[in-house]
Amino acid sequence: MKLLYFYLVATYILMLFPYLSLFFSLVGPANSPIDSFLQCLPSHSNNSHPISDVIFTQSNPSFLRVLQTYVRDSRFNTSSTPKPLAIVAALDVSHVQATVLCAKSSGLQIRIRSGGHDFEGMSYVSSVPFVILDMFNLRSINIDIPSETAWVQAGATLGELYYDIAKKSKVHGFPAGVCLTLGAGGHFSGGGYGNMIRQYGLSIDNIIDAQVVDANGKVLNRKRMGEDLFWAIRGGGAASFCVVLAWKIKLVRVPDVITVFKVQRTLEERATDIVLQWQKFAPKIDRRLFIRVQPAIHFLQNGNRSVHVTFIGLYLGRASPLLSLMNKSFPLLGLQAQDSIEMSWVESNLFWNDVARDTPLEVLLKRTPTRPHSYSKHKSDYVKTPIPKEGLEMIWKKMIDVGVFMLMQWNPYGGRMSEIPENATAFPHRAGNLFKMQYITIWQDDSAEAMSKNIKATRDLYETFTPFVSRNPREAFLNYRDIDIGTNSDGSLDFALDFFKGNVKRLLQVKAKVDPTNFFQYEQSIPIVKLNSEVAISSLEY
Ligand SMILES: Cc1cc2nc3c(=O)[nH]c(=O)nc-3n(C[C@H](O)[C@H](O)[C@H](O)COP(=O)(O)OP(=O)(O)OC[C@H]3O[C@@H](n4cnc5c(N)ncnc54)[C@H](O)[C@@H]3O)c2cc1C
Ligand SMILES: *[C@@H]1O[C@H](CO)[C@@H](O)[C@H](O)[C@H]1NC(C)=O
Ligand SMILES: *[C@@H]1O[C@H](CO)[C@@H](O)[C@H](O)[C@H]1NC(C)=O
Ligand SMILES: *[C@@H]1O[C@H](CO)[C@@H](O)[C@H](O)[C@H]1NC(C)=O
Ligand SMILES: *[C@@H]1O[C@H](CO)[C@@H](O)[C@H](O)[C@H]1NC(C)=O
Ligand SMILES: *[C@@H]1O[C@H](CO)[C@@H](O)[C@H](O)[C@H]1NC(C)=O
Repeated sequence: MKLLYFYLVATYILMLFPYLSLFFSLVGPANSPIDSFLQCLPSHSNNSHPISDVIFTQSNPSFLRVLQTYVRDSRFNTSSTPKPLAIVAALDVSHVQATVLCAKSSGLQIRIRSGGHDFEGMSYVSSVPFVILDMFNLRSINIDIPSETAWVQAGATLGELYYDIAKKSKVHGFPAGVCLTLGAGGHFSGGGYGNMIRQYGLSIDNIIDAQVVDANGKVLNRKRMGEDLFWAIRGGGAASFCVVLAWKIKLVRVPDVITVFKVQRTLEERATDIVLQWQKFAPKIDRRLFIRVQPAIHFLQNGNRSVHVTFIGLYLGRASPLLSLMNKSFPLLGLQAQDSIEMSWVESNLFWNDVARDTPLEVLLKRTPTRPHSYSKHKSDYVKTPIPKEGLEMIWKKMIDVGVFMLMQWNPYGGRMSEIPENATAFPHRAGNLFKMQYITIWQDDSAEAMSKNIKATRDLYETFTPFVSRNPREAFLNYRDIDIGTNSDGSLDFALDFFKGNVKRLLQVKAKVDPTNFFQYEQSIPIVKLNSEVAISSLEY
């Protein structure tokens, strides 16, 4: 309660800032924030890299094209979606510095975008006046095999990273997301997980340095930024603190041959029992094995609906040990030799994205996804005790009854994830989790009814899961951005507790230290909260 009070007072004072600066700008020569921003930019950029080439104001004929190139959800692609006053598509570090300094002095907010995959569009949409700092031009990747490290700029995609690694080595990889068009800037700073999570943890667990631009426009590496900020940007969402220019990653070893599989089971084929067995086995088994469970609605020929469950596996080894492991520990799935396909690690990234095996690897370099026009809504949960059979049956029934296209992804934890302390990075969801769930609805219908029906269906399914998932807080994954769990203008830190659990306090301290004027903000950024009260601080302890 006390914390809430401090928070409201702090928020109120901060809310006055834009009005104060507006007042002073009205007294001085008439100059709107965007005009002063645009006038300011050249004075802070390097003359060898003219910034005028990379500024797109609303009147620029390329404005909409640049804006829409990295919009990944049609929900935020409508004529009524609030647009930025300008986009700066930085080509040089000085452009990033200029954007920060000039937005700050003009009283404008920025939104930072790398791959544009934010599920709530928070990297390119806002109801306040803002400019986009677009990072897609800053996408070089420098791999050094002797030291098993690489520098990856924020605008690089995972596909580009995987391709570049494979070009240099058949026995190295990097643990990060499945989707090939994710940007390193946003994806890594929210944690970054993929199908090697049980063996190697998250992307952030394999990040050893970073280059950022802070709220004063200074370029800092790990040594200069200090361990607090370096801790915060690994899992805390960098956009609350700074602009990430590049990450230094530690590559991981992968066998030259690995095995993948994808098999589907219907309810008649005992999908429910198989999922029951999976819950006991998948988080505990040999950490080289990752099996995602994907329950999805199927619309049958006779007009009925049913749930089909797909089991998608990656094993960091050959098929024959995988088959004996499966036969011993997960016999109900009945994995057959012909289901398990041996290939290289880089090829497995195509397999996991349903790209045909003989497709040239250059498909990894495609920066725009093939699924253009679609709407989606996502939510997340963490499961710590197995869901009983009646629970699973209730969930399938709920999915069938709702009647919209809906799928879920259940991703097993355990292995390396259980060894890393909750406070080692800002990402807190570690030991004690059996798996993480993602709720997904996808639709193509442009109508407002379809929108509300699908969003409601996602929320209803999430409600159905309440008895089976984490509580106090109901944990959520920052990378699966979900506006439903609250924003920093609600006057409550509930959303931050769901994302960061016991790490909220340190995140608030880092925020207050590195960005006291709250320049780096968005709807779910870490706010400035006065932590001078013992009561306030202790209410954040667990
Ligand atoms: C199809 C799809 C598949 C996905 N699969 C996975 C998956 O397998 N694993 C997983 O972990 N997640 C997955 N995600 C979620 C994804 O990791 C997040 O959406 C992530 O934030 C995307 O990063 P981005 O740079 O592409 O997004 P953006 O929308 O550009 O950015 C997301 C957030 O990061 C901030 N940000 C971006 N760049 C910077 C920067 N340079 N400096 C500071 N802040 C920055 C933005 O301001 C915003 O708050 C998936 C998302 C989609 C749409
Ligand atoms: C400006 O850019 C040039 C060329 O990239 C570089 O050599 C120079 O150091 C930069 N100047 C400053 C002040 O950063
Ligand atoms: C956004 O709209 C543009 C123009 O209508 C279109 O080309 C693009 O495919 C759309 N993108 C999404 C994700 O809806
Ligand atoms: C599916 O449809 C058939 C025929 O229309 C019906 O008899 C049956 O009960 C339905 N099954 C389910 C599970 O609803
Ligand atoms: C599984 O193991 C059993 C013995 O435990 C054996 O009889 C059977 O052939 C094995 N199946 C496969 C597919 O390996
Ligand atoms: C994490 O928590 C442990 C146990 O409470 C503590 O000993 C350690 O110092 C903490 N580490 C960091 C980096 O805060």
